[in-house]
Amino acid sequence: MIKKIAVIGCGVIGKGWIIRFLAHNKHVIAYDPDKNLEKEIVKEIKITWPNVKKLFNRKKLFLKNFKFVTSIQDAIKDADFIQECAPENYKLKTKLMKNIGTYAKSNSIISSSSSGLLPTIIYSKCKNPSRSIIAHPFNPVYMIPGVEIVPGKKTSKKYLNKANKFYKSISMKPIMVKKELPGYLSDRLQEALWREALHIVNEGYASTKDIDRAVEDGPGLRWSLMGTFLTFHLAGGKAGMKHMLEQFGPALKLPWTKLKAPKLSKKLSMRVINGTRQQAKGKSVQKLSNIRDEYLVKLQKLRKKYEDKIRK
Ligand SMILES: NC(=O)c1ccc[n+]([C@@H]2O[C@H](COP(=O)([O-])OP(=O)(O)OC[C@H]3O[C@@H](n4cnc5c(N)ncnc54)[C@H](O)[C@@H]3O)[C@@H](O)[C@H]2O)c1
Repeated sequence: MIKKIAVIGCGVIGKGWIIRFLAHNKHVIAYDPDKNLEKEIVKEIKITWPNVKKLFNRKKLFLKNFKFVTSIQDAIKDADFIQECAPENYKLKTKLMKNIGTYAKSNSIISSSSSGLLPTIIYSKCKNPSRSIIAHPFNPVYMIPGVEIVPGKKTSKKYLNKANKFYKSISMKPIMVKKELPGYLSDRLQEALWREALHIVNEGYASTKDIDRAVEDGPGLRWSLMGTFLTFHLAGGKAGMKHMLEQFGPALKLPWTKLKAPKLSKKLSMRVINGTRQQAKGKSVQKLSNIRDEYLVKLQKLRKKYEDKIRK
């Protein structure tokens, strides 16, 4: 049974994992080279708790199950599971995984939160690649159930299955990727959308707000229930995907998209930064996050009802 978890790196994602683990009665030992983070983490646990508690139907927050340490070895040595959340950088993660592998107890699973790096590379110097995986979450980790599990070339099936079971036990819905690829599944998709959005802003066709509305008031409303394939199956009428491909297949050759990212010039960066600042209407990231969390709790409860109708 996985009870003690080490969280290595406590930025946006590390904090998110800590909150999810605590909400599922795990003991968390967190490490970050920034020794001043402890207070910030506790503050975030408390701020998010009212929504987290509703989502998982919890009564009590066990803050005593959380510990912050300033030595990576202390964090790892007794952990059953290690969730790494350090910056996205091959050199840094490869070195860190070598270090983690040295201190990890036998049988513990080592899991990286990377958004798109190849596990075979980041675990290339780690002593235990067979029990090392990627588990790519989504922000906010304490609210979003999806997590992409990506094996490296040396990851064993046994540990992949264990990881799958573990993430399910903390109310997540693992997506088991068959083999490693850069950007995995969702970030590859998100990046395609992001690149096109940047081109549109760069060429002056629309503001950041207009593009966001094109997602929020259009496909985004459907996407949380049905992804691209099932959505397009319905768009094909009675014949479903078959008619969809006949009708819109040729458009793939036009092509509408640019694929290569535009240069992040100063002008483009300023348009994007100022555009999103205006969209925030003076609300802080914290304030917007609270609104988003409250919405995500209600949305997931609603979605559960309809999701069951489709998937069962
Ligand atoms: N932000 C997101 O939306 C998101 C989503 C999914 C996955 N991720 C992935 O999660 C990981 C962390 O991203 P983040 O957004 O939390 O970054 P972040 O910059 O918010 O936090 C990184 C933390 O790592 C710490 N750190 C620096 N060097 C370290 C080291 N050698 N060992 C341990 N900790 C170290 C920093 O002090 C900082 O607290 C990255 O791999 C990223 O790709 C991010």
